Amino acid sequence: MTQGKHRLVTIERHIFEQQQRFPQATGTFTKMLQDMALAAKIIANQTTRAGLTNIIGATDTENVFGERQQKLDLFADRTIYEMNDHTRRLAAMASEEHEDIIDIPPHYGFGNYVLLYDPLDGSSNIDVNASIGTIFSIHRKYTRGERGTMEDLLQEGKRLVAAGYVIYGSSTMMVYTTGQGVHGFTLDPGIGEFILSHENIRVPDQPKYYSVNQGNEKYWTPGVRRYVKWLQGIEGEGHDPLGHRYIGSMVGDFHRNLLRGGIFLYPGDLQDKSKPYGKIRLMFEAQALAFIMEQAGGYASDGAGDILDIRPHSLHQRVPLFLGNTDLVRKAESYIRDYDQEWLVHYLPYRRGEKPEKVKQG
Ligand code: F6P
Repeated sequence: MTQGKHRLVTIERHIFEQQQRFPQATGTFTKMLQDMALAAKIIANQTTRAGLTNIIGATDTENVFGERQQKLDLFADRTIYEMNDHTRRLAAMASEEHEDIIDIPPHYGFGNYVLLYDPLDGSSNIDVNASIGTIFSIHRKYTRGERGTMEDLLQEGKRLVAAGYVIYGSSTMMVYTTGQGVHGFTLDPGIGEFILSHENIRVPDQPKYYSVNQGNEKYWTPGVRRYVKWLQGIEGEGHDPLGHRYIGSMVGDFHRNLLRGGIFLYPGDLQDKSKPYGKIRLMFEAQALAFIMEQAGGYASDGAGDILDIRPHSLHQRVPLFLGNTDLVRKAESYIRDYDQEWLVHYLPYRRGEKPEKVKQG
């Protein structure tokens, strides 16, 4: 990773220069990422004032999982939608806050891409002033017809053309990849621009941290339990323990581990055999962060194989997630292979894209 040297490179310039490498590029893609950067600035402007304005607090409505929505979630969701609905760059959208596909109003016209986003991830942290984030990913539309369809949204992660996140922390940063490395930009609030601060981020070889909700240990499978003991240097041969860091806001935990090295895990468990897949949403969280981690030299797995190979079956499906330095993630896979055959029997149909008849996601 190199810092931004002495050149002042704005996010617009960086995206534009990257696209210049492709003579066939029309500029659509550049503008789409700029639209996301603008949405991020508008959301950042509200998150930093969240304690002051009456926008903070929970609404009476619930999202599709029965979780209470924070007002800032609704604001972020609306902002991203409004930055993207009229541009003729998108054919459809999907948001973690909406059950179904979000259509583009036909009078605006349709484009060739689809956008998936989690407007404010980790929003339970808003009221306690901890980091929160926005996650987004972009697929190329491949079906016929002008309108984007569910099939366009439910593509495998390995077909992503771009992904990124914004972290609203002690400063606001936007990190993105278009498959040519991972680049990070810090918002200068004085001038309202994202400036290149972390070019070509690579996850460090020497990992420092593991991040997991340790309070769930009771429900973990035997393999995951042993694996976490291995991370702690208790199980297995002679290595130092990793430090434990978990704030419960995946963008925050992911960002720290990307810059410092380590692993984030939210495993599946056996608490309820009809739900062996854990908590993290494949289409709104896992795919995007997996693409970024792999572009930074790391790896992302559901414990059985690459996240980016999973054939999605529904917009809000959940997936176990192990995300970080490649050797740490591979080690998790090997513990699961050795000790968690019972769990794998329940989980593998999901990975293959089957949605077992009687099982309702939730
Ligand atoms: O998936 C949403 C999310 O808020 C993530 O950002 C975060 O990592 C996780 O849930 C926290 O879940 P828990 O409170 O169960 O540890």
